[in-house]
Amino acid sequence: MTSRAHWGSRIGFVLATAGSAIGLGNIWRFPYLAGQNGGCAFLILYLCCVFGLGYFMLLGKLAFGRTAKTNIMDGFKAIDVKLKKQHSPLWGYLGGLMAILNGVIISGVYVIVIGWTFLYTIESGLSLFGAHNPVDAQSGFQHLTHAFQEQLLWGCLCILVTAIVISKGVKKGIERVCLWLMPLLFGLLILMLCRILLLPGAEKGISFFLSPDWSAIGFSEEGLDFNLFSKVLLTAIGQSFYSLSLGMGVMFTYGSYLANTDNLKRDAAWIVGLDLMVSLLAGFIVLPAVFAFGLEPTAGAGLTFITLPYVFANMWGGAFWAFLFYLLLFIAALTSLISIYEPLTSLFMDKLKLTRRKATLLTSGLNLISFSVTLASLTGNLPIHLFSRNLFDAFDWITGSFSLSFTMIICCLYMGWIGFVPIWHNLQTTSPSGHIFRNYLRTSLRLTAPIVLTALIIMSLF
Ligand code: TRP
Repeated sequence: MTSRAHWGSRIGFVLATAGSAIGLGNIWRFPYLAGQNGGCAFLILYLCCVFGLGYFMLLGKLAFGRTAKTNIMDGFKAIDVKLKKQHSPLWGYLGGLMAILNGVIISGVYVIVIGWTFLYTIESGLSLFGAHNPVDAQSGFQHLTHAFQEQLLWGCLCILVTAIVISKGVKKGIERVCLWLMPLLFGLLILMLCRILLLPGAEKGISFFLSPDWSAIGFSEEGLDFNLFSKVLLTAIGQSFYSLSLGMGVMFTYGSYLANTDNLKRDAAWIVGLDLMVSLLAGFIVLPAVFAFGLEPTAGAGLTFITLPYVFANMWGGAFWAFLFYLLLFIAALTSLISIYEPLTSLFMDKLKLTRRKATLLTSGLNLISFSVTLASLTGNLPIHLFSRNLFDAFDWITGSFSLSFTMIICCLYMGWIGFVPIWHNLQTTSPSGHIFRNYLRTSLRLTAPIVLTALIIMSLF
Protein backbone atom coordinates (compact mmCIF):
# COMPACT_ATOMS: atom_id res chain seq x y z
CA MET A 1 0.00 0.00 0.00
CA THR A 2 1.32 3.43 -0.83
CA SER A 3 1.63 5.89 2.02
CA ARG A 4 -0.92 8.62 2.40
CA ALA A 5 -0.41 11.82 0.42
CA HIS A 6 0.51 14.99 2.27
CA TRP A 7 0.74 18.71 1.67
CA GLY A 8 4.01 20.20 0.49
CA SER A 9 3.92 23.37 2.59
CA ARG A 10 1.90 25.13 5.21
CA ILE A 11 0.95 27.96 2.90
CA GLY A 12 -0.09 25.42 0.28
CA PHE A 13 -2.44 23.77 2.76
CA VAL A 14 -3.89 27.09 3.93
CA LEU A 15 -4.47 28.34 0.39
CA ALA A 16 -5.95 25.05 -0.81
CA THR A 17 -8.30 24.91 2.16
CA ALA A 18 -9.21 28.56 1.78
CA GLY A 19 -9.74 27.75 -1.91
CA SER A 20 -12.32 25.19 -0.90
CA ALA A 21 -14.02 27.58 1.48
CA ILE A 22 -14.01 30.52 -0.91
CA GLY A 23 -16.47 29.81 -3.66
CA LEU A 24 -19.88 30.61 -5.02
CA GLY A 25 -21.02 30.86 -1.41
CA ASN A 26 -18.92 33.97 -0.85
CA ILE A 27 -19.35 35.82 -4.10
CA TRP A 28 -22.78 34.75 -5.26
CA ARG A 29 -24.69 33.87 -2.10
CA PHE A 30 -23.31 36.14 0.60
CA PRO A 31 -24.01 39.50 -1.10
CA TYR A 32 -27.60 38.63 -1.90
CA LEU A 33 -28.25 37.24 1.58
CA ALA A 34 -26.88 40.47 3.04
CA GLY A 35 -28.99 42.40 0.52
CA GLN A 36 -32.14 40.59 1.57
CA ASN A 37 -31.53 40.59 5.31
CA GLY A 38 -30.69 44.11 6.32
CA GLY A 39 -27.11 44.69 5.13
CA CYS A 40 -24.86 45.41 8.08
CA ALA A 41 -27.25 43.88 10.62
CA PHE A 42 -26.87 40.58 8.82
CA LEU A 43 -23.13 41.06 8.64
CA ILE A 44 -22.88 41.47 12.41
CA LEU A 45 -24.93 38.34 12.97
CA TYR A 46 -22.79 36.52 10.44
CA LEU A 47 -19.57 37.56 12.20
CA CYS A 48 -20.92 36.19 15.48
CA CYS A 49 -21.75 32.87 13.80
CA VAL A 50 -18.36 32.57 12.13
CA PHE A 51 -16.31 33.34 15.22
CA GLY A 52 -18.65 31.82 17.77
CA LEU A 53 -19.24 28.50 16.05
CA GLY A 54 -17.93 28.19 12.48
CA TYR A 55 -14.28 28.49 13.48
CA PHE A 56 -14.63 25.75 16.07
CA MET A 57 -16.41 23.41 13.68
CA LEU A 58 -13.67 23.91 11.12
CA LEU A 59 -10.98 23.33 13.71
CA GLY A 60 -12.75 20.18 14.90
CA LYS A 61 -13.07 18.76 11.40
CA LEU A 62 -9.46 19.48 10.49
CA ALA A 63 -8.20 17.95 13.74
CA PHE A 64 -10.52 14.94 13.30
CA GLY A 65 -9.00 14.33 9.86
CA ARG A 66 -5.46 14.80 11.08
CA THR A 67 -6.01 12.39 13.96
CA ALA A 68 -7.62 9.71 11.78
CA LYS A 69 -5.36 10.12 8.71
CA THR A 70 -7.68 8.16 6.47
CA ASN A 71 -10.77 8.64 4.27
CA ILE A 72 -13.95 9.94 5.84
CA MET A 73 -15.75 6.60 6.05
CA ASP A 74 -12.92 4.87 7.88
CA GLY A 75 -12.22 7.96 9.97
CA PHE A 76 -14.64 6.95 12.71
CA LYS A 77 -13.10 3.48 12.96
CA ALA A 78 -9.60 4.96 13.09
CA ILE A 79 -10.57 6.97 16.17
CA ASP A 80 -12.16 3.88 17.73
CA VAL A 81 -8.82 2.10 17.33
CA LYS A 82 -7.06 4.92 19.19
CA LEU A 83 -9.67 4.68 21.93
CA LYS A 84 -9.30 0.88 22.04
CA LYS A 85 -13.07 0.65 21.96
CA GLN A 86 -15.51 -0.36 19.32
CA HIS A 87 -18.50 1.75 18.44
CA SER A 88 -21.30 1.02 16.03
CA PRO A 89 -20.31 1.04 12.33
CA LEU A 90 -23.42 3.15 11.88
CA TRP A 91 -21.33 6.26 12.66
CA GLY A 92 -19.16 5.62 9.65
CA TYR A 93 -22.12 4.85 7.43
CA LEU A 94 -24.19 7.83 8.50
CA GLY A 95 -21.38 10.36 8.81
CA GLY A 96 -19.12 9.10 6.07
CA LEU A 97 -21.51 7.76 3.47
CA MET A 98 -23.81 10.75 3.78
CA ALA A 99 -20.85 13.07 3.29
CA ILE A 100 -19.94 11.21 0.13
CA LEU A 101 -23.51 11.27 -1.12
CA ASN A 102 -23.71 15.00 -0.46
CA GLY A 103 -20.57 15.36 -2.56
CA VAL A 104 -22.04 13.52 -5.52
CA ILE A 105 -25.30 15.47 -5.41
CA ILE A 106 -23.81 18.91 -4.75
CA SER A 107 -21.10 18.54 -7.36
CA GLY A 108 -23.84 18.06 -9.99
CA VAL A 109 -25.52 21.31 -9.01
CA TYR A 110 -22.21 23.11 -8.56
CA VAL A 111 -20.98 22.17 -12.04
CA ILE A 112 -24.07 23.71 -13.63
CA VAL A 113 -23.45 27.03 -11.91
CA ILE A 114 -19.71 26.97 -12.67
CA GLY A 115 -20.64 26.33 -16.28
CA TRP A 116 -22.62 29.59 -16.26
CA THR A 117 -19.69 31.51 -14.86
CA PHE A 118 -17.44 29.91 -17.47
CA LEU A 119 -19.77 30.94 -20.28
CA TYR A 120 -20.20 34.47 -18.91
CA THR A 121 -16.40 34.79 -18.65
CA ILE A 122 -15.87 33.78 -22.24
CA GLU A 123 -18.74 35.83 -23.60
CA SER A 124 -17.59 38.95 -21.82
CA GLY A 125 -14.02 38.28 -22.90
CA LEU A 126 -15.21 38.18 -26.49
CA SER A 127 -17.37 41.26 -25.86
CA LEU A 128 -20.45 39.28 -26.82
CA PHE A 129 -21.92 40.17 -23.55
CA GLY A 130 -24.37 42.90 -22.98
CA ALA A 131 -27.88 43.45 -21.86
CA HIS A 132 -28.70 47.09 -22.01
CA ASN A 133 -31.93 46.79 -20.12
CA PRO A 134 -32.97 44.56 -17.23
CA VAL A 135 -35.51 42.67 -19.33
CA ASP A 136 -32.81 41.53 -21.77
CA ALA A 137 -30.60 40.51 -18.89
CA GLN A 138 -33.41 38.42 -17.46
CA SER A 139 -34.32 36.76 -20.73
CA GLY A 140 -30.68 36.11 -21.61
CA PHE A 141 -30.24 34.18 -18.40
CA GLN A 142 -33.51 32.33 -18.83
CA HIS A 143 -32.50 31.34 -22.31
CA LEU A 144 -29.23 29.95 -20.98
CA THR A 145 -30.86 27.89 -18.24
CA HIS A 146 -33.00 26.17 -20.86
CA ALA A 147 -30.19 25.45 -23.31
CA PHE A 148 -29.24 21.85 -22.55
CA GLN A 149 -26.40 21.30 -24.99
CA GLU A 150 -24.70 24.58 -24.28
CA GLN A 151 -24.70 24.00 -20.53
CA LEU A 152 -23.64 20.40 -21.01
CA LEU A 153 -20.60 21.50 -22.96
CA TRP A 154 -19.45 24.07 -20.40
CA GLY A 155 -20.10 21.74 -17.50
CA CYS A 156 -18.13 18.92 -19.13
CA LEU A 157 -15.20 21.25 -19.64
CA CYS A 158 -15.24 22.15 -15.94
CA ILE A 159 -15.37 18.48 -14.99
CA LEU A 160 -12.42 17.78 -17.26
CA VAL A 161 -10.29 20.54 -15.75
CA THR A 162 -11.14 19.41 -12.22
CA ALA A 163 -10.38 15.79 -13.02
CA ILE A 164 -6.97 16.70 -14.42
CA VAL A 165 -6.06 18.62 -11.28
CA ILE A 166 -7.27 15.88 -8.95
CA SER A 167 -5.50 13.13 -10.88
CA LYS A 168 -2.17 14.90 -10.35
CA GLY A 169 -2.46 14.41 -6.63
CA VAL A 170 -2.57 16.48 -3.47
CA LYS A 171 0.79 18.21 -3.69
CA LYS A 172 1.32 18.39 -7.43
CA GLY A 173 -2.32 18.94 -8.32
CA ILE A 174 -4.53 20.62 -5.73
CA GLU A 175 -1.81 22.47 -3.88
CA ARG A 176 0.06 23.70 -6.91
CA VAL A 177 -3.08 24.98 -8.62
CA CYS A 178 -4.27 26.78 -5.49
CA LEU A 179 -0.87 28.37 -4.94
CA TRP A 180 -1.32 30.07 -8.30
CA LEU A 181 -5.02 30.69 -8.41
CA MET A 182 -5.68 32.02 -4.92
CA PRO A 183 -3.27 35.00 -5.10
CA LEU A 184 -4.67 35.72 -8.56
CA LEU A 185 -8.16 35.66 -7.12
CA PHE A 186 -7.25 38.12 -4.36
CA GLY A 187 -5.58 40.43 -6.88
CA LEU A 188 -8.62 40.40 -9.14
CA LEU A 189 -10.94 41.09 -6.22
CA ILE A 190 -8.95 44.16 -5.16
CA LEU A 191 -8.79 45.47 -8.72
CA MET A 192 -12.51 44.96 -9.11
CA LEU A 193 -13.19 46.71 -5.80
CA CYS A 194 -11.22 49.78 -6.89
CA ARG A 195 -13.20 50.01 -10.12
CA ILE A 196 -16.60 49.63 -8.51
CA LEU A 197 -15.88 52.17 -5.79
CA LEU A 198 -15.17 54.75 -8.50
CA LEU A 199 -18.70 54.44 -9.88
CA PRO A 200 -20.85 57.47 -9.17
CA GLY A 201 -23.45 56.45 -6.62
CA ALA A 202 -21.42 53.55 -5.23
CA GLU A 203 -21.43 55.20 -1.81
CA LYS A 204 -25.12 54.36 -1.43
CA GLY A 205 -24.23 50.67 -1.60
CA ILE A 206 -21.48 51.12 0.93
CA SER A 207 -23.68 52.92 3.37
CA PHE A 208 -26.33 50.21 2.87
CA PHE A 209 -23.72 47.57 3.67
CA LEU A 210 -22.38 49.50 6.65
CA SER A 211 -25.52 50.89 8.24
CA PRO A 212 -27.48 48.24 10.06
CA ASP A 213 -31.19 47.92 9.39
CA TRP A 214 -32.12 46.26 12.69
CA SER A 215 -35.76 45.87 11.76
CA ALA A 216 -34.75 43.48 8.95
CA ILE A 217 -33.46 41.06 11.57
CA GLY A 218 -36.37 41.49 13.93
CA PHE A 219 -35.47 44.37 16.25
CA SER A 220 -37.96 47.20 16.07
CA GLU A 221 -39.59 49.74 18.35
CA GLU A 222 -42.31 47.26 19.25
CA GLY A 223 -39.67 44.87 20.57
CA LEU A 224 -38.13 41.71 19.23
CA ASP A 225 -39.82 39.74 16.47
CA PHE A 226 -38.48 36.40 17.61
CA ASN A 227 -39.57 34.47 14.53
CA LEU A 228 -37.85 36.83 12.17
CA PHE A 229 -34.73 37.00 14.30
CA SER A 230 -34.34 33.24 14.55
CA LYS A 231 -34.95 32.88 10.84
CA VAL A 232 -32.19 35.33 9.94
CA LEU A 233 -29.89 33.88 12.59
CA LEU A 234 -30.30 30.39 11.17
CA THR A 235 -29.72 31.73 7.67
CA ALA A 236 -26.47 33.29 8.88
CA ILE A 237 -25.38 30.06 10.57
CA GLY A 238 -26.25 28.00 7.49
CA GLN A 239 -24.30 30.38 5.32
CA SER A 240 -21.26 30.26 7.60
CA PHE A 241 -21.21 26.44 7.53
CA TYR A 242 -21.69 26.35 3.77
CA SER A 243 -19.00 28.91 3.22
CA LEU A 244 -16.56 26.95 5.37
CA SER A 245 -17.25 23.81 3.32
CA LEU A 246 -18.60 21.83 6.26
CA GLY A 247 -20.74 18.73 5.79
CA MET A 248 -19.09 16.94 2.92
CA GLY A 249 -15.92 15.53 4.39
CA VAL A 250 -13.78 18.11 2.60
CA MET A 251 -12.19 19.60 5.69
CA PHE A 252 -11.76 16.16 7.19
CA THR A 253 -9.97 14.92 4.08
CA TYR A 254 -7.78 18.01 3.72
CA GLY A 255 -6.91 17.70 7.41
CA SER A 256 -5.96 14.05 6.93
CA TYR A 257 -3.10 15.11 4.63
CA LEU A 258 -1.55 17.24 7.39
CA ALA A 259 1.54 16.36 9.38
CA ASN A 260 1.29 16.60 13.16
CA THR A 261 3.50 19.68 13.12
CA ASP A 262 1.31 22.49 11.81
CA ASN A 263 -0.28 24.84 14.27
CA LEU A 264 -3.90 24.01 13.47
CA LYS A 265 -5.48 26.75 15.55
CA ARG A 266 -3.53 29.38 13.69
CA ASP A 267 -4.09 27.79 10.28
CA ALA A 268 -7.82 27.52 10.88
CA ALA A 269 -7.88 31.19 11.88
CA TRP A 270 -6.19 32.09 8.59
CA ILE A 271 -8.67 30.05 6.60
CA VAL A 272 -11.66 31.59 8.37
CA GLY A 273 -10.12 35.06 7.98
CA LEU A 274 -9.48 34.70 4.26
CA ASP A 275 -12.94 33.28 3.68
CA LEU A 276 -14.51 36.16 5.57
CA MET A 277 -12.39 38.71 3.74
CA VAL A 278 -13.61 37.48 0.38
CA SER A 279 -17.25 37.57 1.50
CA LEU A 280 -16.76 41.16 2.64
CA LEU A 281 -14.97 42.17 -0.56
CA ALA A 282 -17.73 40.56 -2.61
CA GLY A 283 -20.28 42.52 -0.60
CA PHE A 284 -18.38 45.74 -1.24
CA ILE A 285 -18.23 44.97 -4.96
CA VAL A 286 -21.70 43.65 -5.67
CA LEU A 287 -23.86 45.89 -3.49
CA PRO A 288 -22.31 49.26 -4.53
CA ALA A 289 -22.44 48.15 -8.19
CA VAL A 290 -26.12 47.40 -7.84
CA PHE A 291 -26.88 50.66 -6.03
CA ALA A 292 -24.90 52.78 -8.47
CA PHE A 293 -27.39 51.79 -11.16
CA GLY A 294 -30.42 52.28 -9.00
CA LEU A 295 -31.24 48.57 -8.83
CA GLU A 296 -32.58 46.56 -5.93
CA PRO A 297 -30.11 44.52 -3.83
CA THR A 298 -32.84 42.10 -2.84
CA ALA A 299 -33.02 40.32 -6.21
CA GLY A 300 -31.86 37.09 -4.56
CA ALA A 301 -30.11 34.39 -6.52
CA GLY A 302 -30.41 36.32 -9.77
CA LEU A 303 -28.17 39.13 -8.50
CA THR A 304 -25.01 37.71 -10.08
CA PHE A 305 -26.40 36.42 -13.33
CA ILE A 306 -29.18 38.89 -14.09
CA THR A 307 -28.59 42.15 -12.23
CA LEU A 308 -24.81 42.33 -12.68
CA PRO A 309 -24.73 41.70 -16.46
CA TYR A 310 -26.99 44.71 -16.77
CA VAL A 311 -24.67 46.73 -14.54
CA PHE A 312 -21.61 45.78 -16.58
CA ALA A 313 -23.31 46.47 -19.90
CA ASN A 314 -24.01 50.02 -18.78
CA MET A 315 -20.61 50.72 -17.31
CA TRP A 316 -17.69 52.29 -19.12
CA GLY A 317 -15.31 49.47 -20.17
CA GLY A 318 -17.95 47.05 -18.95
CA ALA A 319 -16.94 44.03 -21.05
CA PHE A 320 -13.46 44.06 -19.56
CA TRP A 321 -14.71 44.36 -15.99
CA ALA A 322 -17.34 41.73 -16.59
CA PHE A 323 -14.60 39.46 -17.85
CA LEU A 324 -12.55 40.01 -14.69
CA PHE A 325 -15.54 39.54 -12.44
CA TYR A 326 -16.76 36.28 -13.97
CA LEU A 327 -13.20 35.02 -14.19
CA LEU A 328 -12.71 35.52 -10.50
CA LEU A 329 -16.03 33.85 -9.79
CA PHE A 330 -14.96 30.95 -11.98
CA ILE A 331 -11.62 30.58 -10.18
CA ALA A 332 -13.27 30.68 -6.78
CA ALA A 333 -15.81 28.06 -7.80
CA LEU A 334 -13.27 25.80 -9.48
CA THR A 335 -11.07 25.49 -6.38
CA SER A 336 -14.21 24.57 -4.43
CA LEU A 337 -15.25 21.93 -6.96
CA ILE A 338 -11.76 20.48 -6.76
CA SER A 339 -12.19 20.12 -3.02
CA ILE A 340 -15.55 18.43 -3.42
CA TYR A 341 -13.87 15.72 -5.52
CA GLU A 342 -11.15 14.90 -3.04
CA PRO A 343 -13.12 13.04 -0.31
CA LEU A 344 -14.59 10.72 -2.93
CA THR A 345 -11.31 10.14 -4.69
CA SER A 346 -9.57 9.43 -1.41
CA LEU A 347 -12.33 6.98 -0.47
CA PHE A 348 -12.13 5.10 -3.77
CA MET A 349 -8.37 4.87 -3.51
CA ASP A 350 -8.54 3.38 -0.03
CA LYS A 351 -11.58 1.18 -0.34
CA LEU A 352 -11.29 -0.11 -3.89
CA LYS A 353 -7.47 -0.06 -3.88
CA LEU A 354 -7.48 2.06 -7.03
CA THR A 355 -4.68 4.24 -8.30
CA ARG A 356 -5.35 7.96 -8.04
CA ARG A 357 -5.95 8.16 -11.74
CA LYS A 358 -8.61 5.45 -11.77
CA ALA A 359 -10.22 6.82 -8.62
CA THR A 360 -10.42 10.25 -10.27
CA LEU A 361 -12.04 8.69 -13.30
CA LEU A 362 -14.67 7.10 -11.10
CA THR A 363 -15.32 10.35 -9.19
CA SER A 364 -15.65 12.42 -12.33
CA GLY A 365 -17.82 9.73 -13.91
CA LEU A 366 -20.20 9.94 -10.96
CA ASN A 367 -20.13 13.70 -11.19
CA LEU A 368 -20.87 13.54 -14.90
CA ILE A 369 -23.94 11.42 -14.20
CA SER A 370 -25.24 13.63 -11.39
CA PHE A 371 -24.52 16.72 -13.49
CA SER A 372 -26.22 15.59 -16.69
CA VAL A 373 -29.29 14.20 -14.93
CA THR A 374 -29.68 17.39 -12.87
CA LEU A 375 -29.19 19.49 -15.98
CA ALA A 376 -31.66 17.52 -18.07
CA SER A 377 -34.25 17.99 -15.38
CA LEU A 378 -33.50 21.72 -15.14
CA THR A 379 -33.88 22.29 -18.86
CA GLY A 380 -36.95 20.07 -19.06
CA ASN A 381 -35.33 17.48 -21.34
CA LEU A 382 -35.96 14.83 -18.73
CA PRO A 383 -39.28 14.92 -16.92
CA ILE A 384 -37.89 14.00 -13.49
CA HIS A 385 -39.21 15.88 -10.50
CA LEU A 386 -38.61 15.59 -6.81
CA PHE A 387 -40.85 17.26 -4.22
CA SER A 388 -42.52 18.90 -7.22
CA ARG A 389 -39.36 20.77 -8.19
CA ASN A 390 -36.84 20.13 -10.93
CA LEU A 391 -33.74 18.27 -9.73
CA PHE A 392 -31.56 21.40 -9.67
CA ASP A 393 -33.86 23.11 -7.20
CA ALA A 394 -34.67 19.87 -5.37
CA PHE A 395 -31.01 18.91 -4.80
CA ASP A 396 -30.13 22.43 -3.78
CA TRP A 397 -33.01 22.37 -1.34
CA ILE A 398 -32.33 18.89 0.10
CA THR A 399 -28.65 19.51 0.70
CA GLY A 400 -29.14 23.06 1.90
CA SER A 401 -31.97 22.31 4.26
CA PHE A 402 -31.29 18.78 5.40
CA SER A 403 -28.46 16.54 4.34
CA LEU A 404 -25.46 18.84 4.92
CA SER A 405 -26.73 19.68 8.40
CA PHE A 406 -27.53 16.07 9.17
CA THR A 407 -24.02 14.94 8.24
CA MET A 408 -22.58 17.71 10.38
CA ILE A 409 -24.72 16.66 13.36
CA ILE A 410 -23.43 13.09 13.15
CA CYS A 411 -19.82 14.25 12.91
CA CYS A 412 -20.16 16.77 15.74
CA LEU A 413 -21.82 14.25 18.06
CA TYR A 414 -19.08 11.73 17.37
CA MET A 415 -16.29 14.27 17.79
CA GLY A 416 -17.81 15.73 20.95
CA TRP A 417 -19.10 12.68 22.82
CA ILE A 418 -16.89 9.82 21.61
CA GLY A 419 -13.70 10.90 19.93
CA PHE A 420 -12.97 14.11 21.79
CA VAL A 421 -9.98 12.90 23.81
CA PRO A 422 -7.74 11.75 20.93
CA ILE A 423 -8.79 14.68 18.76
CA TRP A 424 -8.06 17.14 21.54
CA HIS A 425 -4.77 15.42 22.24
CA ASN A 426 -3.79 15.76 18.59
CA LEU A 427 -4.67 19.43 18.65
CA GLN A 428 -2.70 19.97 21.86
CA THR A 429 0.54 18.63 20.38
CA THR A 430 0.82 21.58 18.01
CA SER A 431 -1.30 24.30 19.55
CA PRO A 432 -1.54 23.98 23.32
CA SER A 433 -4.51 25.74 24.86
CA GLY A 434 -6.14 26.04 28.23
CA HIS A 435 -9.24 24.41 29.62
CA ILE A 436 -11.54 27.32 28.71
CA PHE A 437 -10.81 26.76 25.05
CA ARG A 438 -11.15 23.03 25.52
CA ASN A 439 -14.53 23.30 27.22
CA TYR A 440 -15.80 25.75 24.65
CA LEU A 441 -14.77 23.50 21.78
CA ARG A 442 -16.26 20.43 23.43
CA THR A 443 -19.54 22.15 24.23
CA SER A 444 -19.76 23.47 20.69
CA LEU A 445 -19.33 19.96 19.31
CA ARG A 446 -21.51 18.21 21.86
CA LEU A 447 -24.38 20.62 22.21
CA THR A 448 -24.34 23.98 20.46
CA ALA A 449 -23.75 22.76 16.92
CA PRO A 450 -26.14 19.77 17.05
CA ILE A 451 -28.91 21.92 18.55
CA VAL A 452 -28.45 24.75 16.10
CA LEU A 453 -28.24 22.38 13.16
CA THR A 454 -31.39 20.55 14.25
CA ALA A 455 -33.17 23.90 14.44
CA LEU A 456 -31.87 24.68 10.97
CA ILE A 457 -33.31 21.43 9.60
CA ILE A 458 -36.67 21.98 11.27
CA MET A 459 -36.86 25.54 10.04
CA SER A 460 -36.13 24.71 6.46
CA LEU A 461 -38.31 21.60 6.28
CA PHE A 462 -41.40 23.23 7.77
N1 TRP B 1 -17.53 26.56 0.47
C1 TRP B 1 -17.88 26.57 -0.90
C2 TRP B 1 -18.53 27.91 -1.25
O1 TRP B 1 -18.52 28.80 -0.46
C3 TRP B 1 -18.80 25.47 -1.31
C4 TRP B 1 -18.33 24.14 -0.89
C5 TRP B 1 -17.20 23.52 -1.26
C6 TRP B 1 -18.97 23.32 0.06
N2 TRP B 1 -17.10 22.33 -0.60
C7 TRP B 1 -18.14 22.20 0.22
C8 TRP B 1 -20.12 23.46 0.79
C9 TRP B 1 -18.47 21.22 1.13
C10 TRP B 1 -20.45 22.47 1.69
C11 TRP B 1 -19.63 21.36 1.86
O2 TRP B 1 -19.03 28.07 -2.31
